[in-house]
Amino acid sequence: MQKKFTVNPWEVTGEVDYGKLIKEFGVQPLSKELIEKIEKKAGGTHLYLRRGLFFSHRDFDVIMDEYEKGKEFVLYTGRGPSGRTHLGHLIPWIFTAYLQKAFGCKLYFQMTDDEKFLMRDVGLEEAVGYSYDNALDVIAAGMEPGKTVIFSDVEYIKTIYRIALDVAKRVTFSTAKAVFGFTNSSNIGIIFFPAVQASPAFMAQMLEKRNVNCLIPCAIDQDPYWRIARDVAPALGMPKPAGIYSKFLPGLQGVGGKMSASKEDTAIYTTDSAPVARKKVMAAFTGGRATVAEQKEKGGNPEVCVVHQWLYYMFEENDEKLRNSFDDCKAGRILCGECKKYLADKVCRFLEEHQKKRENAKKEIDRFMVKD
Ligand code: TRP
Repeated sequence: MQKKFTVNPWEVTGEVDYGKLIKEFGVQPLSKELIEKIEKKAGGTHLYLRRGLFFSHRDFDVIMDEYEKGKEFVLYTGRGPSGRTHLGHLIPWIFTAYLQKAFGCKLYFQMTDDEKFLMRDVGLEEAVGYSYDNALDVIAAGMEPGKTVIFSDVEYIKTIYRIALDVAKRVTFSTAKAVFGFTNSSNIGIIFFPAVQASPAFMAQMLEKRNVNCLIPCAIDQDPYWRIARDVAPALGMPKPAGIYSKFLPGLQGVGGKMSASKEDTAIYTTDSAPVARKKVMAAFTGGRATVAEQKEKGGNPEVCVVHQWLYYMFEENDEKLRNSFDDCKAGRILCGECKKYLADKVCRFLEEHQKKRENAKKEIDRFMVKD
């Protein structure tokens, strides 16, 4: 029997079959050739490409072809600020910073405090507050000042609204229902909202009259929004935005779904102290056996191990070390405690660095945030 999973902008559950998702969403796998093109321009590889954390795209090949012919592109990504930032959120941002540096792009970063107010149990001012709090993590991920604008929807809506109206006029309720699964009990705020999320994809062209393409690096669950944006683009006289999509970093308690901000122990927050982070990693779900004796005899199961996946996707750059720990696990030569400690050290080192940059971002934030 097929295992069930769900991926949409408001829900990611179950063990995601990314191959199947590529077919369902109608996106393209990232080819070796395309990856090489990015890496060549960036003057180096990126772990997330090498390990397939970014795995699919829409029209990224078109963007690259046009770029080679002289057409620049801007970047657009965002965050739904419903709480503190965790490590899973950082993945598209770190990757966006890499692309920004490689291609010298301007970046538009949207904080959808409106969306979170409409869809989650979070107050409006609380969500706006998180826009500013989370922006510190965005800046700490390495975005360039002078080339990056970050905005809260609530505080920039006057600028966004003109674009959103242009989009909304061309999206029927029937399309929105088909794409997002809206029903008669959906609140009417969220029915308009897709026009708001589509808008930044057209900001460079509409606000600055630039003849550029737009690339959206994000997790795959946001793709439904870009289907809408791409549908209306020709009617607006705009290029269709392209996307480059990541998988989800699994939560610490198991491989089903993504890290959840509402389940504290499944995620490591960027502001967690070293002891808190260490404790969470040490309690992670692994592929270990019930007893040490059994593990030594039969070996562990790194395929299902969250610790292994975190090392694979984010924390172990060294291919050989990764392979060795995989083989040692399978052969029963190492125990889960050792791997967890190894990962915890890496996570704590990462947090220490990030927190320094985050602290520094408090002085820089005015150079990034714009509002009406
Ligand atoms: N809807 C996204 C979320 O809930 C936030 C978002 C807005 C976004 N614009 C984006 C994410 C562009 C990625 C790219 O997290």
